[in-house]
Amino acid sequence: MKKPTLLIIFGTRPEAIKMAPLVQTFRNDSSFQTKVIITAQHREMLDQVLELFSIQEDYDFNLMKERQTLESITTGVIDKLSQVILQENPDMIFVHGDTTTTFAASLSAFYHHIPIAHVEAGLRSYDMQNPFPEEMNRTLCDQITSLHFCPTKQAKENIVQSSVQSSLLYVTGNTVVDSLLWVVSHIQNTHPSLLEQSAANEKRILVTLHRRESWGQPIESVCNALRDIVLQNSDVRVIFPVHKNPVVRESVFSCLGDLANVNLVEPMDYIHFVAEMKNAYLILSDSGGVQEEAPTFGKPVLLTRSVTERPEGIRCGVVKLVGTQYNNVYKELHSLIHQTSYYQAMVTSENPFGDGQASQRIQNQVRQYFGFEPAHSCLGEFTQ
Ligand code: UD1
Ligand code: UDP
Repeated sequence: MKKPTLLIIFGTRPEAIKMAPLVQTFRNDSSFQTKVIITAQHREMLDQVLELFSIQEDYDFNLMKERQTLESITTGVIDKLSQVILQENPDMIFVHGDTTTTFAASLSAFYHHIPIAHVEAGLRSYDMQNPFPEEMNRTLCDQITSLHFCPTKQAKENIVQSSVQSSLLYVTGNTVVDSLLWVVSHIQNTHPSLLEQSAANEKRILVTLHRRESWGQPIESVCNALRDIVLQNSDVRVIFPVHKNPVVRESVFSCLGDLANVNLVEPMDYIHFVAEMKNAYLILSDSGGVQEEAPTFGKPVLLTRSVTERPEGIRCGVVKLVGTQYNNVYKELHSLIHQTSYYQAMVTSENPFGDGQASQRIQNQVRQYFGFEPAHSCLGEFTQ
């Protein structure tokens, strides 16, 4: 009997980090033929992850262009994936989250009547402009998905409320926690010195910013708040791996490029970024993945967005929505730096997003879907 063929497709850094444990799980499962497609919507930032997790792709669409448009990624993915679908005749296509790669790959799978497994399904901000265009991408993808792998109960509830048709709705936890736990133990085994705390008298603020809806003035307001905090607090150091997007880089370098206590660096490989999260005093970010990782280290996250599709971090107190206006960002940074009780109230060691077993849960459900025995039969749904 022919083994079912699974295609796993992704294109950006965060998708790669979150799909890496699934690639490993399915490539180790001899019941399936598993093929990896990278669209390379990102190039350098994707390649960093592929190298760390030793992922050898079967197809590389090599799509990234400097200052690419949403249209060029969308049409490029559909065009190239349809050719691979015709060649491989897959039984299932795995997509992740909410990028343009995700949306375009789902549409292509749908056109060819291939069942879609959506990993990190069900996240909703209920605001189509925030984040843009991700809310549209994931909402439309969920409409045509067969197997919804929801990271949390809330995400599953969002899909139930939207009454989409589905073969399967299952709460798995987020695969990012699988990756994170693997990387932490990898660091402990291979680079333990990276986990040593920074100088006791230094407060490190780890920063990432990239969201499309914050380009220009909002990112500049956040950077100006950071600028004043650094100028007024000699014990504060900002570590800022700047996203490769030239629109983001122009704003960040012009606001912060001249300050000695601000390290503007290239995107870090995942090992070094995880070590920086562990060593940070606090994190300022608009990232989706960082919201899900920071609770593992109990680090307060100031989230420079107006809304989040990941309310679990806010509920457990470790993430705070601060928007992008100068006054609010400055005030929150100042309070966390100067008020111990304010800081301690945001420190928590529980991670509501996953327990490190998401990939195994997904594998079990996929095995059952194809009529195989589950590989780890005692695993139920993730319960947060
Ligand atoms: C994309 C995703 C966003 C995700 C983010 C993760 C969409 C619409 N956006 O946003 O959901 O949160 O990735 O980081 O899918 N670039 C490089 N090298 C790289 C990566 C990017 O030079 O390795 C530059 C290129 O000039 C590229 C630009 O960044 O054109 C924008 O990349 P793109 O993937 O379109 O958007 P992101 O803002 O990265
Ligand atoms: N990350 C990384 N190096 C960096 C910055 C972030 O490896 O310099 C990781 C981070 O730990 C998280 C992911 O990249 O897992 C988040 O990516 P990003 O913020 O670009 O995208 P989002 O999660 O917002 O879609």
